[in-house]
Amino acid sequence: MTNHSHPHPDATDESALAEMLDLDAEVLDGHLAEVADWLGELTADRPPRRILDLGCGTGTGTFTLLRRFEEAEATAVDRSPHMLHHLRARAEEAGVAYRVRTVQADLDDTWPAVGTPDLVWASASLHHTADPDRVLSEVLTALRPGGLLALVEAESFLPHFLPDTDDGPAHPGGDHGAGGTAPVPPGLEARCHAALAEVHERDVPLLGSDWGALLARAGFTVAAERHFAIDLRPPLPASAGRYAQATLRRLRSHLGDRLSEDDLAALDALADDTGPLSVLCRGDLTVRTARTVWAARRPEPGTAPR
Ligand SMILES: C[S@@+](CC[C@H](N)C(=O)[O-])C[C@H]1O[C@@H](n2cnc3c(N)ncnc32)[C@H](O)[C@@H]1O
Repeated sequence: MTNHSHPHPDATDESALAEMLDLDAEVLDGHLAEVADWLGELTADRPPRRILDLGCGTGTGTFTLLRRFEEAEATAVDRSPHMLHHLRARAEEAGVAYRVRTVQADLDDTWPAVGTPDLVWASASLHHTADPDRVLSEVLTALRPGGLLALVEAESFLPHFLPDTDDGPAHPGGDHGAGGTAPVPPGLEARCHAALAEVHERDVPLLGSDWGALLARAGFTVAAERHFAIDLRPPLPASAGRYAQATLRRLRSHLGDRLSEDDLAALDALADDTGPLSVLCRGDLTVRTARTVWAARRPEPGTAPR
């Protein structure tokens, strides 16, 4: 399998990522609850007691699953001390610290001591590993027989925040559209997505992998692959504006050299704290994106994986 490891992000980037992940969890809480309920149905015969969150970040999966499975405890693994510190603080705040154990480990190194989980959650993390085949094989070995892995991948870390009318055909330098609260260059989001796709193709080639095939190859039985379309429309809570701002600021810092001056200026105006274009002030903000969840089981002894 490919051997592509990524440099560890610096502290500023980690803080920006942590802020974005927390807002993502807050804004998409309805979607996360829906996924957790679905996992509840898939594990109804034996609700999970031991949960493992791989590449947990700030704990979106950990907290979502602890809410859904009230008897469960979670082990949250990440290579980033910053993320784990943040997650522990959130656990204290939510009064669930006694149900959470954090483990700092790089999944590209030796498999950490995480016991025998009933349910493993890996969201937007396995595409960062150097050898997902190896990690999946470790997950399979760690899971109790019959246990479930929920592997989650997002369509993009950049949802569509602007209304369709602002996201016309990609032709830089055209007339500014009239849709929305204030105009932005037509096609801005489309150009951002295209530039992001180029960067990801270079830096995160595992994004968009056929995870179902990888899971089957590792020996899992893929119970289901479910696509969740997220389509939040106005009026949205203020957290949606902060989520858009954090995402666009991060995008701006990663795509700075791939966008025109006009587009960069528009991104700056959208991500500004004030002003007519600011996503904090717009009444027409949307959050449109999609996530796919693969639910895969470790086969029970005597049953062949399908
Ligand atoms: C995009 S974030 C997703 C966080 C969280 N799962 C979520 O859905 O909000 C990816 C996380 O994976 C972690 N990560 C990336 N590569 C890793 C590795 N090799 N070992 C452990 N954690 C890793 C990063 O530190 C980061 O917290």
